[in-house]
Amino acid sequence: MSSASKTHARWSSHWTFLMAATGAAVGLGNIWKFPYITGENGGGAFVLVYLACIAIVGIPLLMSEILMGRQGRSNPINSMLSLARASDASRLWAGIGILGTLAGLVIICFYSVVAGWVMDYIIETAKGTFAGISAEEAASYFESSLLADKKLQLSWHTAFTLLTVAVVAAGVTKGLGNSVRIMMPLLFILLVLLLAYSITQGDFARGFSFLFSPDFSKLTGKSVLVAMGHSFFTLSIGMGAMMAYGSYMPEDSSITRMTLAVVFFDTLIALMAGLAIFPLVFANGIEPGAGPGLMFKSLPIAFGHMPGGTFFGTLFFILVGIAAWTSSISMIEPAVAWIDENFRITRATASAIIGFIVWWGGFACIYYEGVFGILDNLGSNIMLPLGGLLMALFVGWSMKRKLIKNQLGDLGYYPFNAWYAVLRVFTPIGIILVFLYGLGLF
Ligand code: TRP
Repeated sequence: MSSASKTHARWSSHWTFLMAATGAAVGLGNIWKFPYITGENGGGAFVLVYLACIAIVGIPLLMSEILMGRQGRSNPINSMLSLARASDASRLWAGIGILGTLAGLVIICFYSVVAGWVMDYIIETAKGTFAGISAEEAASYFESSLLADKKLQLSWHTAFTLLTVAVVAAGVTKGLGNSVRIMMPLLFILLVLLLAYSITQGDFARGFSFLFSPDFSKLTGKSVLVAMGHSFFTLSIGMGAMMAYGSYMPEDSSITRMTLAVVFFDTLIALMAGLAIFPLVFANGIEPGAGPGLMFKSLPIAFGHMPGGTFFGTLFFILVGIAAWTSSISMIEPAVAWIDENFRITRATASAIIGFIVWWGGFACIYYEGVFGILDNLGSNIMLPLGGLLMALFVGWSMKRKLIKNQLGDLGYYPFNAWYAVLRVFTPIGIILVFLYGLGLF
């Protein structure tokens, strides 16, 4: 399987696919990003828009993306080419694959920097740095010991990039399933533990009402765009990662059921993370809009004070690190698979090339003010929704219905038509409206 072999691997079972797709979906987006952008965008109303986007845009698109992948059976760029050909549509649709592959590379650059922060927190929690820590000390550790130390951040970013590249070089269909199978349930259990601590020791009432009582006066065009961008980000859709994973999916798995399971777990974990973090935020006088440091400033307080906190905290950050790892793998898989399947070089070399690019991207995020935010905004709020819009238009209006039915064969008449109608009409209109609104055009 070296050189430009066209043999395309398969997951070993339904379960492995579900685990890999959930592993791609659940990551820093749920535990780090969702709470902090919710804090920045005023809470409840933002959460409601996010949930609406998951339902109207996320679910139909995740189904579409997986079905495109399983029908195309290749990397996203080649899959799009063959789907367009099979549907007598323009080859220009391959642009979806190209845009998406690039979006993955844009996103992983800042993502692996944050994953590096998580790795630092594994070590510091284990060393007992956070034992008995105050809110001020926790904030100061994050700002002055970690963010101010660029060399430290770069070392962690380098380590994380190497870990990601190593798995992708070996081939994502191998080995990924097992790590996720253990990690997901454990992560869930630790979130329950953290939640128990927040409920008893934090300001749970205030945290809860911040997340679930919508105040629409807090909603701006920009926050609606961020909510939609995040619904793409958290489900890993709009760039072809799920298309790539779908291409390895067994023929007889139900795409609908897989999609609903992934969306359920992903949303549950995000809401649990929010419910664990905000009571701590309010009880300790942390600003909800503290930005990307929100999780890093609040969680050490909980682990620093709960019984067994050193152990549970270390385990928790290890699990978040693994969740980030299984997500970042999916971000570079399309690029690596494309190089691997189109050029006469090995998958290992392709992975190394991509790793090199990612390393420099992370370097730029660490050393140049503003790059982090620009890449996040470009990737999450522009490239992903644009990719998703094009996918909805392709599957909804251009792809042969026979090919779609081929993939969604288990859906009955009414569910199929409901899905199809939402995808053709509501999904694209929703994305376009949010774009226009978010860019301040009305
Ligand atoms: N969904 C992941 C998270 O929430 C991030 C992620 C993985 C992603 N693969 C992606 C985001 C592809 C966009 C596109 O952490």
